[in-house]
Amino acid sequence: MEESIVTNYTLEDDNILDNTIRPETIEEYIGQEDVKENVNVFIKAAKLREEPLDHVLLYGPPGLGKTTLAFIIAHELGTNIKTASGPSIEKSGDLAAILSSLEPGDVLFIDEIHRMPRYIEEILYPAMEDFSLDIIVGSEGNSRNIKIDLPPFTLVGATTRAGDLTAPLRDRFGIVSKLQFYTEKELTDIVKRTARVLDVEIDEDAAKELAKRSRGTPRIANRLFKRVRDFALVDGNGKVDKEITKKALKRLKVDKLGLDNTDHEFLLAIINKFNGGPVGIDAISSSIGEEVTTIEDVYEPYLLQKGLLKRTSRGRVVTDKAYEVLGIKKDNDK
Ligand SMILES: Nc1ncnc2c1ncn2[C@@H]1O[C@H](COP(=O)(O)OP(=O)(O)OP(=O)(O)O)[C@@H](O)[C@H]1O
Ligand SMILES: [Mg+2]
Repeated sequence: MEESIVTNYTLEDDNILDNTIRPETIEEYIGQEDVKENVNVFIKAAKLREEPLDHVLLYGPPGLGKTTLAFIIAHELGTNIKTASGPSIEKSGDLAAILSSLEPGDVLFIDEIHRMPRYIEEILYPAMEDFSLDIIVGSEGNSRNIKIDLPPFTLVGATTRAGDLTAPLRDRFGIVSKLQFYTEKELTDIVKRTARVLDVEIDEDAAKELAKRSRGTPRIANRLFKRVRDFALVDGNGKVDKEITKKALKRLKVDKLGLDNTDHEFLLAIINKFNGGPVGIDAISSSIGEEVTTIEDVYEPYLLQKGLLKRTSRGRVVTDKAYEVLGIKKDNDK
């Protein structure tokens, strides 16, 4: 499947921009007011008590700002951040090496924490709970357990699938925050901020239009902005206005709601092949050739939020609104 421009996942191109436009302080981080407020209080309290911040689990669809927030937490704590990702920690020694390199108060950020192997997880339990590392040394027949004290630290875990985390791991996080899709107003502010940082002039209307079509996701908003900026430079005078924005988005095949080809394919498959549903996710998956996890993590959350799709005990159902948006007449006789 070709990567679509509105995929929530990181595209190679994104990284070039990321470091310049990623907010660094909690004030610059737009939206997620509840999460921000809580985190702010816990950070202040931890600093007053001179204790490390409790372990934090951030979850939600890709591109909503989990990694960004992890870095902001370290910034606000005034500590270093070390990063790792679940699937890259393969051996117990890998994790032991990371843990023993931490300085007191540091943040250890583990991305995609649900993909960490189970035996690695078990090393993490005592580390999270008692700041201790239990390791086995010596060879077979002559091995013994040793306990190493670790400096107090804060683990920040990020995942798109909180449901895939084992209960014992989940329970060891004192702060669990779900990131939400952003409102149009918040995304408008994000686009305007990005434009400012990149020194591009943008109309309020153009920023709003981009916000509307970004699937509630800052990563997509920034990516669309970047492309529109190119059109403005080549076809216009460099300034991003509504007209150039609409033209660019049309060329990029992003529809009025920010839906792309895969979203359309997904909804149309349910309508045309399964009579609007209910239909099981596996059947849809094989019908459109997308993996179940991709559908569940990337496509469905936004369609559900927009009221285009419903999940029922008997499977997925396309709503009347979806028929309307797709311009398809619902056949009630079937
Ligand atoms: N609250 C925000 N305010 C401004 N910009 C944001 C915000 N959240 C995210 N962004 C922008 O969106 C981009 C994507 O965010 P980030 O990489 O943190 O998402 P993520 O949730 O970690 O995604 P993934 O699940 O794919 O790892 C960032 O580079 C940043 O520029
Ligand atoms: Mg991330």
